[in-house]
Amino acid sequence: MSGSLLVKNGVIVTSTGIQRLDILIIDGVIEALGRDLRREDAEVLDAGGLLVFPGAVDEHVHMRDPGLTYKEDFETGTIAAAFGGVTTILEMPNTLPPVDSAKILREKRTLLENKAYVDFGLYGVLHDSNIDDLPEMWMEGAVGFKIFLGPTTGNIPAPSDKTLIKAFEESAAHGFTLALHAENYKLVEHYTENVKKTGRNDADVYPDSRPNICEEEAVSRIILFAKKTGGRALIVHTSTNEAVSLIREAKMRNIKVFCETCPQYLLMTREAYRRLGTLVKINPPLRDEKDREALWDGLRGGIVDTVGSDHAPHSYEEKTVNNVWEAAAGFIGVETLFPLILDSALRGLIPLEKIPLVLSENPARIFGIYPRKGSITTGADGDLVIVDPTRENTIKADKLHSKHRLTPYDGVKVKGRIKYTILRGVKIIDDGELVNEKMGRFIKPITRDDVTLT
Ligand code: DOR
Ligand code: ZN
Repeated sequence: MSGSLLVKNGVIVTSTGIQRLDILIIDGVIEALGRDLRREDAEVLDAGGLLVFPGAVDEHVHMRDPGLTYKEDFETGTIAAAFGGVTTILEMPNTLPPVDSAKILREKRTLLENKAYVDFGLYGVLHDSNIDDLPEMWMEGAVGFKIFLGPTTGNIPAPSDKTLIKAFEESAAHGFTLALHAENYKLVEHYTENVKKTGRNDADVYPDSRPNICEEEAVSRIILFAKKTGGRALIVHTSTNEAVSLIREAKMRNIKVFCETCPQYLLMTREAYRRLGTLVKINPPLRDEKDREALWDGLRGGIVDTVGSDHAPHSYEEKTVNNVWEAAAGFIGVETLFPLILDSALRGLIPLEKIPLVLSENPARIFGIYPRKGSITTGADGDLVIVDPTRENTIKADKLHSKHRLTPYDGVKVKGRIKYTILRGVKIIDDGELVNEKMGRFIKPITRDDVTLT
């Protein structure tokens, strides 16, 4: 995309501070940052009174394309991302076919390149029969590898410990990140059987089928494997206080383990099953107040490194079955991620500078796409989300852009309103309107260096 955009008078928020600076973007790349910048031929966007953040990098989305496009497709999913201020998504591999070879990764890339409204990276998946394919998938441009240790959508079997340790060895050797769904498969099966025996099938009982110990065991194992091999892990959708404690200790010992949580675990507890039923069936499940508090402490204290959406769309029929065991797990979130975290900051729960850190910089670093993505600095892609902090907004399910608009946040009032989303110097959202055609591109890791988060 050629042309220049000059964002003037905005207040720029990065992890290291808040300051008033103009941003000049030329041909998609940030050319200059400074006071009173001028450029004759540039389109000028007046950001006076507005906050300017790096575009969000959501490292955890399931856009369901290909194979499950009745739930979501890459067009609807990336439009939703754009409306939510997310300019880069990292797409999970539990599509059909699962992304378990370089060939399938290549095919998925080609398919999605024609449908993307925002930039995207692709995960490969690891299971017991494709460990030897990891290096080739990595060379093909996989952004990292997802490992499902527990049962969930897609029914991808958990790898054995033998495969898992090899994956960590490969991670240490090649420098890629393993993103782990940390629940112990057998323990989930065990507790699920126990709960089913009671005859209950209401959503309220769901957390008892996957209690905290399932996550605690898996996180301990991951930390041990990372310690032994020097491999790098991101624990996705961390939900328990036990996991936060384990990750805190591991970080003290310089083990390369990073922590993601999601708005749902910060904002809701298992009480929500009473109100919202199977809509909030997710894996791992919503937990107790002490877990929620531990996640907030972890977020404030630098243990939680990133907040991802775990955007996991399903059809209305799949979500509204009147039996929790049959209902699908997951709900949409890519469009509400940034607004919910912005709201938390504007209410004073976290400092504003935490937003660019956990929604942009850290996820980009963890997956080797920083500083091109996730930062406002010269030479980086001109990806921005510009918000009016004085406005309020009410999240309305029927105004969202996913295929199936089922959200637990329907009717929730949030502080702050996204005014513009800018992708590589081009406005894609302007005051609640989608104003550009598909221009999303495939991105792959640009650095294989060690990851240190500030
Ligand atoms: O609730 C969930 N839904 N958790 C997962 O781990 C997977 C996701 C999905 O793909 O539906
Ligand atoms: Zn997920």
